[in-house]
Amino acid sequence: MVSRVIPVDDFDLVIFGATGDLAHRKILPGLFRRFKAGQIPATSRIIGAARTAQDDDAFRAEAEGAIREFGGVTGEDPQLAEFLPLLGYVAIDARGEGGWQELKARMRPGAVHAFYFSVAPALFGDIAERLAGHGIADDDSRIVVEKPFGRDLASARALNATLARHFDEHQIYRIDHYLGKETVQNLMAVRFANVLFEPLWNAQFIDHVQITVAETVGVAGRGSYYDKSGAIRDMVQNHMMQLLCLIAMEPPYHFDPDAVRDEKLKVIRALEAVPPEDIVRGQYRGDDADYLKDAEDPESRTESYVAMKVRISNWRWQGTPFYLRTGKKLRARTSEIAITFKEPPHSIFDDSGQPKANELVIRLQPNEGMNLKVMIKEPGPGGMRLVQVPLDMSFADALGPEGADMPDAYERLIMDVIRGNQTLFMRGDEVEAAWAWTDPIINAWEDSKRRPEPYDPGSSGPEEALRLMHRDNRRWREIRS
Ligand code: BG6
Repeated sequence: MVSRVIPVDDFDLVIFGATGDLAHRKILPGLFRRFKAGQIPATSRIIGAARTAQDDDAFRAEAEGAIREFGGVTGEDPQLAEFLPLLGYVAIDARGEGGWQELKARMRPGAVHAFYFSVAPALFGDIAERLAGHGIADDDSRIVVEKPFGRDLASARALNATLARHFDEHQIYRIDHYLGKETVQNLMAVRFANVLFEPLWNAQFIDHVQITVAETVGVAGRGSYYDKSGAIRDMVQNHMMQLLCLIAMEPPYHFDPDAVRDEKLKVIRALEAVPPEDIVRGQYRGDDADYLKDAEDPESRTESYVAMKVRISNWRWQGTPFYLRTGKKLRARTSEIAITFKEPPHSIFDDSGQPKANELVIRLQPNEGMNLKVMIKEPGPGGMRLVQVPLDMSFADALGPEGADMPDAYERLIMDVIRGNQTLFMRGDEVEAAWAWTDPIINAWEDSKRRPEPYDPGSSGPEEALRLMHRDNRRWREIRS
């Protein structure tokens, strides 16, 4: 299967924070891969902007190092030699006037102009103001901002207001990198390009949904950031919320940015408040890895794990709970969505027991694919015995090398910015609605005196989380890669 690479228009992309971790790990290697794939015109310019004083050549050397380290490039690569001249650098003072005129002089009229704010949110306002004030950005320019987009509703509103002073909503691209993952986009294809699932996609036929994002890494090295955040702010308010929306939303009338985002927003607004008894928080605690040490605060009550039962108050989902869980230092790295259908209402197979419920598992990472469990007759003589078997599809197997070589989320998203397509970016009202739902959950915990439940590193999370399910006569799926 050959995928079609459609080159984007000629562009000037400015990366603020170009010497930082995200630029090194994701943005620069991602741009190189798109260049290699033939998607980036050779006339385009990628301009690094940061405080460090250095010239174009020094930045190209820095970028080459990053692309080699994080982009898996080894040895001679003629395309890397072709890519590096696209890069340039301007030393800039986000809070002062230094560098802005030089940046302006580098921007080419006629090219798409995009500005990636890969910096602390505290600088968003300063940069936006200077881009507008110096006439560097115009009505067609795009800005890209990273999470965390606020830490509560008030700060998200303030950030939205700051950006809105200089840019219109259609120019603002708020990244949630989960939306750039191929399989996450596939959720929409599976739901809305097949007739098979949608008639069953409701509380009448679906018993419950489990969304799991399990990680094996801990927070060592980024403990001071993470400890101010915790799993709810770091993963639930954004990434898991997006997954939930894509599973639960109504079909948009068209695959169009606002049509899709309108439907997601309706889901977020329909989320019920989560009572404390429906949430379990955990912290990994052990001799080899200990959250309290990694967080550098022996008293920390921040969760490195959360499991919760979420209800959506609308006609489609009344009575079908969504169970969400995510955590660090768990048994395996795996992200999946499991949809458990209801059991058949009546069994005609008297001696063979009740058929088991069908289950559709969408694996987001690793080994992207889908698995549908169906009942069949166990082969062989001796009467009608039922057995549940998986219809298992790995996208890599089904789609060949193209399926195995999926673009990284950032690659896809940056190309969408250049194309001017906001479908996979969060709209301001969506982010605010997500905070409006998480704020009371976070505040109730902060007001309580409770501590997170300890769990062993390498386990499936705290015991309490099992009880959250057992209480409802359900079970979590096993965490394994
Ligand atoms: C980030 C979080 O947004 O997503 C990290 O801040 C988390 O804590 C990461 O590890 C997970 O992303 P992925 O793509 O590795 O699943």
